[in-house]
Amino acid sequence: MIDKIKELIAEAEAFTAQSIEEVEAFRIQYLGKKGLLNTYFAEFKNVANDQKKEFGQAINQLKNTAQDKVNALKSELESTEEASLNGDLSRPGDPISIGARHPISLVKNQIIDIFSNIGFNVSEGPEIEDDWHNFTALNLPEYHPARDMQDTFFIQTDPDILLRTHTSSVQVRYMENNTPPIRTISPGRVYRNEAISSRSHCFFHQVEGLYIDKDVSFADLKQTLQYFTTEMFGKSKIRLRPSYFPFTEPSAEIDVYWGLESETDYKITKGTGWLEIGGCGMVDPNVLTNCNIDPEVYSGFAFGVGIDRIAMLLHQISDIRLLSENDVRFLKQFKSAL
Ligand code: PHE
Repeated sequence: MIDKIKELIAEAEAFTAQSIEEVEAFRIQYLGKKGLLNTYFAEFKNVANDQKKEFGQAINQLKNTAQDKVNALKSELESTEEASLNGDLSRPGDPISIGARHPISLVKNQIIDIFSNIGFNVSEGPEIEDDWHNFTALNLPEYHPARDMQDTFFIQTDPDILLRTHTSSVQVRYMENNTPPIRTISPGRVYRNEAISSRSHCFFHQVEGLYIDKDVSFADLKQTLQYFTTEMFGKSKIRLRPSYFPFTEPSAEIDVYWGLESETDYKITKGTGWLEIGGCGMVDPNVLTNCNIDPEVYSGFAFGVGIDRIAMLLHQISDIRLLSENDVRFLKQFKSAL
C-alpha cells in the first residue's frame, strides 16, 4: 500500500492542467471528501503497528504535494487568464449606458442658444436672496401691495432673507456690477409659496432677459420676442396684452399664437389658440436709478418666461411634478433629445 501511495505522490507531482476546471477535478480526486486521501486515512487503522509511522508520513506527503499542486496551478492559470483579458485590445468594451438630459436642462439650453445668437450672455445669482435684490431695487418697496403677487418663502425669522421669487434679482445684481450696453439672460430656479398641483409647484424655473442701451424701444422688445418664439416654437405670431409689473412700465403679458389644429392644441390653449408664455415690459426708470444707471441716458426692456411650462408643452408632459420627482423611467425618455 505504501508503494501505491508513493506512486500517487509521483503522479501528483507530475500533474499539469490547462484550465481551472482540470485543477478542480484533480483537487476532488485527491483532496475531496471521498477522495484518495480520505480513503487512505480510513485505512490507517488497519495498518500494522510497525508500519504506522511510515504509512502516516507517506499520506501526509501525498496530502501536501496535492495541496501545493492545486495552489500553484490555480494561481498560475488565474494570472494568465487575467493577462489575456487585459491584453486583448480587440475585445469589445463594457457597454456604458448613457444618461439623459433633464427636460428642464434641454429647454434651458435651447433658450440660451437662441439668445446667445443675438448677443445675450448668461448671468447667474444666488437662490437665497436679500430683500433689496428680489424686491426693493425692483421698485417694490416695503408694504408695496404688489409683493403679494409672489407668495414668498422667508428664511427662518429674518424678513430680509428669502428664496428668490424670480430671477429678476439676478438682473439687479448684473446692473449693479456692469455698465450698459447690457444684454443678458438669467436662467434659474425660483420659489413661491403655492399649493402643489399638476400645473403649479412651489419651485420652478425661469429665464429672464434684460437689454439696456441708448434708445431701446418697445419695438425692439417685440422684435426680440418674435425672434425668440419663431426659433423656439416655429411660431412668429405673438400678442402683447397690457399688464402690470412694478419693475416695468409699460408692462405686458406675452402670448404666442399656437393654433387650433389638434385636440391637444385646444387643451393647452383652452380653446383660444393663444398661449401665455411670460411677462415683459420697458424697465422702470426707478429700477435703473436704483442700480446706478442713468435713466436720462439709457432705456431698456426686460422679459421673463417659465421653463417648466415650455418644457411641458414641447415634450407633452401632463404633470409638473414629474419634473422634480426624478423617476428614471420618466427621465430615460429624453435620451433621444440629447
Ligand atoms: N419677474 C416677472 C415674474 O416672475 C416676469 C417679468 C420679467 C415681467 C421681466 C416683466 C419683465 O413674474
